[in-house]
Amino acid sequence: MQKPIHLIFCLALTAMLLLTARAVEAQHETGADLVSGARAFQDYCANCHGPDGDLINEVDLGHNNFRQPYSDEDLAGIILNGIPDTPMPPTPRVTAEQAMMLVAYLRSLGEDDGSSLAGDPEQGRNLFEGKGQCLDCHMVNGSGSVLGPDLSSIALVRSAAALEASLLEPDSEVQPTSRFYTVRTRSGQTVSGRLLNHDAFSIQILDTDQRLRSFEKNQLASFGFSSPGMPSLADDFSAQEIADLVAFLASLRRGAAQ
Ligand code: HEC
Ligand code: HEC
Repeated sequence: MQKPIHLIFCLALTAMLLLTARAVEAQHETGADLVSGARAFQDYCANCHGPDGDLINEVDLGHNNFRQPYSDEDLAGIILNGIPDTPMPPTPRVTAEQAMMLVAYLRSLGEDDGSSLAGDPEQGRNLFEGKGQCLDCHMVNGSGSVLGPDLSSIALVRSAAALEASLLEPDSEVQPTSRFYTVRTRSGQTVSGRLLNHDAFSIQILDTDQRLRSFEKNQLASFGFSSPGMPSLADDFSAQEIADLVAFLASLRRGAAQ
């Protein structure tokens, strides 16, 4: 009976050490990490610190406004071990890796949003569904189209400034997986959409009518990424309308809300 327990303990310890090493290496968090961090914050921290991290007097976790200039490792240490002799408890259910995701999430909340006009999220929603025709390409909470990225939890991974940039200068930050792909057949037909798959002989794309299309490469005159599909709103939308849209997008945090 003793031996297996001993073994399990050793394995657990090894796993913890490996995770710590990995977490320290992980400098560039992904969007998925920030979503996990946001979830962990809701599960383990928001009951005391509040959903925006500013419920405890003199403590503000959401605006990079800590009482000391903590490093990421310092913050992860506070999360794992608590602050001795204060009500800030250790959180033993969080792994070292999750602690780093939490830190990345807190840091992302603190990014300066840079935008000056106050936007109205309800107006933004109207623009999103109406004038902007954003649902033609984007999905939000299950409705819309899958041509562009799903925006249901975009606020968890993009600061307001980055959202504003996506609307005004969409070419500036294009994720390769979301770029439009265009094929021209030898008979002169042009089809654009999202690249799903390709191999030596064929290409599959989801076209702008959301149909799966497959092409043999030897039937094509040309194929490749086209300029991004996301239109710039700079010409057709006022600064106030952009601010409203950003306010709406900044409210999209599905997954973090319980
Ligand atoms: C039981 C309530 C409670 C929970 C749960 C809790 N905290 Fe705290 N936390 C506190 C209190 C109280 C303080 C202030 C402690 C002190 O007086 O120094 C604090 C302080 C902190 C600080 C130091 C802030 C600074 O500016 O010095 C950080 C960082 C922090 N908490 C992060 C977290 C995170 C992340 C979680 C979730 C994993 C969490 N806390 C969960 C109560 C809590
Ligand atoms: C013709 C299709 C299309 C329309 C219409 C469209 N978008 Fe996009 N959008 C895209 C694509 C494709 C991307 C991915 C990046 C790129 O290709 O530029 C994108 C990217 C974005 C991003 C950045 C997402 C990220 O992961 O950073 C935001 C925010 C966004 N769009 C908001 C909007 C809003 C708001 C509207 C309506 C005013 C809108 N889009 C209309 C296709 C579209």
